Amino acid sequence: MKTNGRIRELLATPCFNDIEYGHRVIWPLLDHLGIPLHARRPQFQIENPFGNGLLRLDYLLHHEDLPLVTIEGEPTARQFETGYRQAKNYSRNFKPRQRGCPMQERTVPFLITAAGGRAEMCRAIVRGLNIEYEPILQDGQPAFLEWDELLAEMGLTEPAAALGPQQRVLIADTATQFFTELFEPIDAAPALRNQEDRKIVLLNRLIHLALQRDERAIQTACQAAKLGQRRLGQLLRTIGWYRQKIESDEFTGVAVARGYRTFLQQPGGRGRHRYFTEESQSRPYWKGGRLRYRNVARFFTPAEVIQQMVRVAQPRAAESVIDMTCGTGGYLAECVEYVAQREDARRAQEFAARRLVGIDDDPFCVSCSRALLAFLYPQHAERFQVYLHNALYRRSPSDSEIDEDWRADTRLRTGRYDLVLGNPPGNDQYSGTNRREVERQWRSRFAHTEGGLMDHHCFLRRAVDLARPEGGRICLLLPEGLLTRDNRGMPVLRQAIARECELRLVVTLPRVFKGNNARMAIVFLVRNPCPDRRRKVLLVEVREHWQDGEGVERKTDLFGELEATVNRYLGVE
Ligand SMILES: C[S@@+](CC[C@H](N)C(=O)[O-])C[C@H]1O[C@@H](n2cnc3c(N)ncnc32)[C@H](O)[C@@H]1O
Repeated sequence: MKTNGRIRELLATPCFNDIEYGHRVIWPLLDHLGIPLHARRPQFQIENPFGNGLLRLDYLLHHEDLPLVTIEGEPTARQFETGYRQAKNYSRNFKPRQRGCPMQERTVPFLITAAGGRAEMCRAIVRGLNIEYEPILQDGQPAFLEWDELLAEMGLTEPAAALGPQQRVLIADTATQFFTELFEPIDAAPALRNQEDRKIVLLNRLIHLALQRDERAIQTACQAAKLGQRRLGQLLRTIGWYRQKIESDEFTGVAVARGYRTFLQQPGGRGRHRYFTEESQSRPYWKGGRLRYRNVARFFTPAEVIQQMVRVAQPRAAESVIDMTCGTGGYLAECVEYVAQREDARRAQEFAARRLVGIDDDPFCVSCSRALLAFLYPQHAERFQVYLHNALYRRSPSDSEIDEDWRADTRLRTGRYDLVLGNPPGNDQYSGTNRREVERQWRSRFAHTEGGLMDHHCFLRRAVDLARPEGGRICLLLPEGLLTRDNRGMPVLRQAIARECELRLVVTLPRVFKGNNARMAIVFLVRNPCPDRRRKVLLVEVREHWQDGEGVERKTDLFGELEATVNRYLGVE
């Protein structure tokens, strides 16, 4: 580990631009840390994690095809925070695209930010569903790992040992790999051909059965999918490995949950699966006694956005919290982890099992949300309150298009929740199940179906409806401009919201979903029967591009800006 004067000496070298800083500071710093030349890749190309196109890391350090350290260098110290946030977001969303240099797509475990006279090396840690980076310090001073130490931390110098709980980033990556391996035989199952949702539902079920040690049920489920002996053998071996890791307490907790969600969104990075982000999905439903299909697009919310929304909403263990359109359960898991960090694990378990509710009208999503929560607390797998239901009405109609879980009816009572959060569908047309019933209820309860029944109206109204009238909080990701721009049927809804709620924060974001141009905004409201009209509202717009001091247009580090905005809102900075 180096903390010595040579580093200070290097950092004091005056430089006028990035290139000079690279030659005169970063390159000699790498020499000083003993990084071999073949391990250094300047200007390494990656996919832009915030939108289209490619970006370049200033440097990537690697061992064979394993990425180890990303480096962002800036000539002046006041650019440190920007450089750090950039390095952080590039490292945790690392998608290599450098021709002729194959590299694994995984979390980069270390980063270095060097800006003028200030430099820090950070180590990745799992926090919630997200990855954070913590400075490496020795006696309170920034410290830098040398090459041998880097290799040792990554387990590259000795035979692979068991993963310790502190190696959570490695656990998350291993978990993604495990789910990918487990999925392989299922993906090839003849009985599930072209039924992508059912493959994942089966995978979730097998994991659940493995936790219950129910060998016979595993065999039966595999036989029903016509898996065949060879594939069954492969699957049982993977499951055996999994059980061993669970028993040695190596393979539970939030790192595994992160690994699972990464698998769901981008398994193996090959984009082979068809049920994930932004793909239109043929979903079955019943109508007039006949099975029909409709197309629904699935958008999974990025972990970074979820994490910042949960920071704004501040759930507590004693509160009732609902995500009425929970998808893969990202908000649910992040709330549990937030409570575990702020309070303690015992209270977080109680909260997860007794006061947290997830609803979705898609069986695939219900299955994934349950699986995600079970990775956090496997012992409560049977207690989680995640239900297949349409969240928009209080009682399911007798001729529902989906097989609704009646237990959800009592969880959907008006005014019951301290916090309602999530990312509901935002289409101009109502896209959910049981349209006729929703339309009927909307007309009789809220009298605003003029302009047609639209997703965003329905879910915003429903969120306010579910929140406790005095002090219930609502934190939603909604289509941008919903409260100001869209006039179709909105005035009535807006007036209702102004009567019942105080608006606290609106953060308009550029595109957050890859492959989709929709602009979204985080909206935070607090219910209050006598809203304070003079209360200040923080309105922020994060733009896709910005201009630096020399007038050069640059892409905004969306997640970094969002974090800084939330810090400002919470008074952290
Ligand atoms: C944008 S996604 C939410 C994604 C989720 N936050 C995540 O990160 O995975 C919207 C979700 O709403 C669900 N949904 C749509 N209409 C619904 C309804 N009427 N009731 C309950 N869930 C609904 C969809 O199935 C989808 O999972």
